[in-house]
Amino acid sequence: MSITIFMLCLFLNIAYSDKNMNNVGFTYDGYFKMGDQELKHSNLTAKVIRTDGGRSEAWQVFYNLPLQFKNSNASPSIFSFSTTFVFAIVATNPEFHGHGLAFAISPTRGIPQAQPNQYLGLFNATNNGESYNHIVAIELDTDKDFQLNDIDDNHLGIDINGVASVNSSPAGYYADHGPLRKLKLTSREPMQVWIDYDSKDQKLSVTIYPINIPKPEIPLLTLMTRDLSSNFSEFMYVGFSSSSGSYSSHYILGWSFQMNGQAKEINLSRLPDIPGILDPNESDGGGIGYKKVLIVMLPLLVGVVFLLILIYGAIMISRRRKFIQVLEDWQVLYGPHRFTYKDLFIATKGFRDGQLLGRGGFGRVYKGTLPFSNVQIAVKRVSHDSRQGMKEFIAEIATIGRLRHPNLVRLLGYCRRKKELLLIYDYMPNGSLDKFLYRMPNSILSWKQRFKIIKDVASGLLYLHHQWVQVIVHRDIKPANVLIDNDMNARLGDFGLAKLWDNGNDPQTSRVVGTPGYIDPEIVHSGKSSTFTDIYSFGVSLLEIASGRRPVETDETSPEKVLLLEWVKVCCDKGNLCEVVDSKLGDEYVVEEAEMVLKLGLLCSHPVASARPTISTIVEILDGDSQFPDNLSDLIKFRNFGGWSGQGSSSSSTFPTGQTSIASLTFTEPFASRGR
Ligand SMILES: *[C@@H]1O[C@H](CO)[C@@H](O)[C@H](O)[C@H]1NC(C)=O
Repeated sequence: MSITIFMLCLFLNIAYSDKNMNNVGFTYDGYFKMGDQELKHSNLTAKVIRTDGGRSEAWQVFYNLPLQFKNSNASPSIFSFSTTFVFAIVATNPEFHGHGLAFAISPTRGIPQAQPNQYLGLFNATNNGESYNHIVAIELDTDKDFQLNDIDDNHLGIDINGVASVNSSPAGYYADHGPLRKLKLTSREPMQVWIDYDSKDQKLSVTIYPINIPKPEIPLLTLMTRDLSSNFSEFMYVGFSSSSGSYSSHYILGWSFQMNGQAKEINLSRLPDIPGILDPNESDGGGIGYKKVLIVMLPLLVGVVFLLILIYGAIMISRRRKFIQVLEDWQVLYGPHRFTYKDLFIATKGFRDGQLLGRGGFGRVYKGTLPFSNVQIAVKRVSHDSRQGMKEFIAEIATIGRLRHPNLVRLLGYCRRKKELLLIYDYMPNGSLDKFLYRMPNSILSWKQRFKIIKDVASGLLYLHHQWVQVIVHRDIKPANVLIDNDMNARLGDFGLAKLWDNGNDPQTSRVVGTPGYIDPEIVHSGKSSTFTDIYSFGVSLLEIASGRRPVETDETSPEKVLLLEWVKVCCDKGNLCEVVDSKLGDEYVVEEAEMVLKLGLLCSHPVASARPTISTIVEILDGDSQFPDNLSDLIKFRNFGGWSGQGSSSSSTFPTGQTSIASLTFTEPFASRGR
């Protein structure tokens, strides 16, 4: 190993002494490397000893000034002393680590005739073991020498006048009075050594421990009742000696010495770094750097990993929360119709506003594409509050889910979540009928299309009212709930829903479900929906489809045209129903069909429920299987009583009771006998 002659580091040297020369002490913070010759700081001298033609080396660093270790006139003549140092041995060879390092007290500044290798730069082959050496040393031995009876290649020993230690122990410490915890001297880890001599007890003790723990109470080595006074001259020198060859680097990172007292603590927070990482000559330098990087990076890495795990966990929990859905035993019964919230969430891109198809009476409707199958769906989000009647609620939905008819929008399934119910329907790309009627000025539904739509709706309603095992009342028939599929077929949507909100409710408090303008005036009295209620709103819808007008046109200038029903009635009375037909059609319509539809509309929206035809009759008439009876025309004419209005709530209260009974008696029979 080439010896680099560089100033390594500036030392902080605090040498102090009071008037009594006996109480000298000094402290060094900052490292020096054994083998470096030039130490530019006060009061330390480095020396190199070469033998074997320069092949073997020993290095010494000594404090320049002599220290008084004893006063022959005093008793005890020898003084107590204490020293501590932090060292690190960086092994550069995995098998052989060199011989070792020693703290030495010597009568001379440096030991000029000592030899390297097993003599550690302390003694030589001639003087080894001789009492005239007057040398006391604490060796940190990293080689097992059989001739010297070394215990192992990793031990501490107290050497008096020779390298055969008078007391030695494997490197380690007794923390918490426990068993010896081993230390590896060549581990590159900084370790602290305390050497204390108590002159009163004649006790020399040596302690070594890792720098990150407090000094253990029990020393590793103790030499009892050993009067060192014969060993010491009045003035002695202190320093370090080492012999490692090129197998290790020995660093002293801090050193403190005190005569007649406890050595000053080394400021561990200011402990210098071992410079290996910076020194390109150090074949092993990277190792220290790696270690250092590891020491810094490892906790950081662990922290980051831990944080990532934490974030992942939080995401998973929030995802679970997000997609959590209410599952109950009885829902399993209707399993095929149940969707997972996650699928719906993905399908609708997180219920994004861009996916919004519209806002219905019961909630928002979103467009979606089911993952995997790519089936397009419409998802209706309905909020519901009470857990009461949930079973019936779902049962009802299951019923609706089983309905299959070409003129009904299929309910594909549902999903229940927290305070929400999600209903999944077939997606109807053409939207609803009211869009065609009112919101697409450039696209006019032909009469043929309109008539087909009317028949379609009637067909769907017939299925609900009469062709299913139980009667299903739609409760909200209006153009907005009539959806147009790809082939311009009309399909009734949103059927059966209203009932769900009615279930178990007190009729006194329940609100009337439906849309103003389409609400049967009778329902306000009875509070009950029936197939007649549907017929009423179907009638209003017929008028709308034929006329292209809303049930109530608030911005209409001529007052008789504000209420559609009123106006159609007026025109009917005048015998000029065609005036009502949507002007956008021009002459492009079948007069007979248009008149029939309008009359049917009037009849269906008859204020007296029992006067209305059943849906089967309506279908027959629309299909031409049944003629519009003449007396029906009379019935429509008869409707010139008060209270005829599209605004059910206000009108029916003015409806004379007597006339109700007349209407019922006179006109319900023909339909009653036919319909069911
Ligand atoms: C060993 O050191 C002593 C002084 O302590 C010296 O007189 C002697 O010549 C040295 N022996 C060798 C072999 O260097």
